[in-house]
Amino acid sequence: MGAAARARILELMQKVGIRDAESRLGAYPHELSGGQRQRVMIAMALANKPEVLIADEPTTALDVTIQAQILDLLAELKKSEGMGLLFITHDLNVVRRIADRVCVMKGGEIVEEGPAAAVFDNPQHPYTQKLLAAEPSGQPEPVAPDAAEMIRTQDLKVWFPIQKGLLKRTVGYVKAVNPTSISVRTGETLGIVGESGSGKTTMALAIMRLIASEGEVRFCGDDLRQWSTKELRSLRKDMQIVFQDPFGSLSPRMTCAQIIAEGLAIHNVDQHRAPRELVTEVMQEVGLDPATMDRYPHEFSGGQRQRIAIARAMVLRPKLVVLDEPTSALDMTVQVQIVELLRDLQKRYGLAYLFISHDLNVVRAMSHQVVVMKQGDIVEAGVSEELFEHPKEDYTGQLLAAAR
Ligand SMILES: Nc1ncnc2c1ncn2[C@@H]1O[C@H](COP(=O)(O)OP(=O)(O)OP(=O)(O)O)[C@@H](O)[C@H]1O
Ligand SMILES: [Mg+2]
Repeated sequence: MGAAARARILELMQKVGIRDAESRLGAYPHELSGGQRQRVMIAMALANKPEVLIADEPTTALDVTIQAQILDLLAELKKSEGMGLLFITHDLNVVRRIADRVCVMKGGEIVEEGPAAAVFDNPQHPYTQKLLAAEPSGQPEPVAPDAAEMIRTQDLKVWFPIQKGLLKRTVGYVKAVNPTSISVRTGETLGIVGESGSGKTTMALAIMRLIASEGEVRFCGDDLRQWSTKELRSLRKDMQIVFQDPFGSLSPRMTCAQIIAEGLAIHNVDQHRAPRELVTEVMQEVGLDPATMDRYPHEFSGGQRQRIAIARAMVLRPKLVVLDEPTSALDMTVQVQIVELLRDLQKRYGLAYLFISHDLNVVRAMSHQVVVMKQGDIVEAGVSEELFEHPKEDYTGQLLAAAR
C-alpha cells in the first residue's frame, strides 16, 4: 500500500469515527465490532467521492452517539461535496434529523411524500400516522422476589491479542472487556447498552463460553470453568442467542421448519414427539402461521424472519437467551410487536435475557436491570427505571440525550 493511499485510508477511517485507526488498519472484519464494520462500509462508499450516495439503513447497528456523528458527517459531505443522499431507514428520528424531503412507502407504493417538517408535523396518510405513533413502551413483568440466580460473572475479562510479524508476536491487546461482574436472575432481563465497540457482544459471547475469557462465570451456581466439554455441550441448549440481522443469520437454503428443527436432533430435545409437531407449536407461540413452515427465509418479511430466529432459540427451551440487537433492523411497528413477544415468552417460561441494544427506548421497555458499557468497562449499573430517570454518569446522560 502506497503512503498516499494509506494516509487517505486513515483519513477516511477517522472521518467515520473509528478509534485508534492506525492500529486497526490490519484488522479483519470479524475482529471489528458490528458498528465498526458498518463504519468501514461507509468509508468504502465515500472513498470515490460519489455524486449520489444511497445509504440503506447505514446507522441501524450503531449506538446513538456514533449514529449522531455519522449523520452529521453525511450532512456535512452532502454540503461540502454537493452530494445527493438517498437515505433509506425505518428509524423516524434519523429521518427527522437528516432528510429535506421524505417519501413514506408501504406495500411497494409511496403513500405520502413531502418536505420533512410537513410530513412529521402533519402526517396525512393513516400509515404515516401509525408509524409516528408506534414506540416501544411499558415494562417487563417484575422478577419473582425469590428468583434464583442464573448467571453470575466475577471479573470476566476478554483481551484479544494483537499479533505482528511472522512469529505472531503479541504486541498489544484489544481490551474488549476489562474485568467486569454482572448477575442475572430467572425471569430477569439485563439490558446492556453502550457505544459501538464498547464490548457488549464480546461479553455475551464470553458468558456463553463461545470465546475464551478470564475470570469466573457461574451458571445456576456452577462454575463453568470446571465443566467438561460434554457438559458444556448441554450449555449450548440452555443458552441461546438471537442476532440482529434476520437476513444473515438464517440459512437461505433451509426451510423455516428445517431451521427451527435443526437443534432438536443435536440436543435430543423431547424425542417422544415428532419434530414437525414441536415446530408447529413453537411457530404458534411466536406468532407465525405453521402453514408456512416449508417456505424459505426470503419468502418472509424482516419481522417474520426475526420470529423464525426467536422460534429456533425457543424450541430448545433454553434458560437464558442473548438478544443481540434483535429489533434494530425492524421498523417501529414491528419492533413493538417483537418487544411484546419477548416479554410474553419471558413471563411464560421464566427466561433470563441479556438484551443488547443501542436503542434506549427498547432497552427501557425490556429490562429490569441495565449496565452501561464504555471501552470495555461497566461505567454504570442499576435498576432500569432509576438509571433512565437519574443517570449518575455523564456518559449515560449523553447516551440518553442523544436518544431523544
Ligand atoms: N475476534 C476479535 N479479535 C480482535 N478484536 C476483536 C474481536 N472481536 C471484537 N474485537 C474488538 O473488541 C471490541 C469490542 O467489540 P464488540 O463486538 O464486543 O463491541 P459491541 O459493543 O458489541 O459493538 P457494536 O455495538 O458495534 O456491535 C471492539 O473494539 C472490536 O473491534
Ligand atoms: Mg455488537
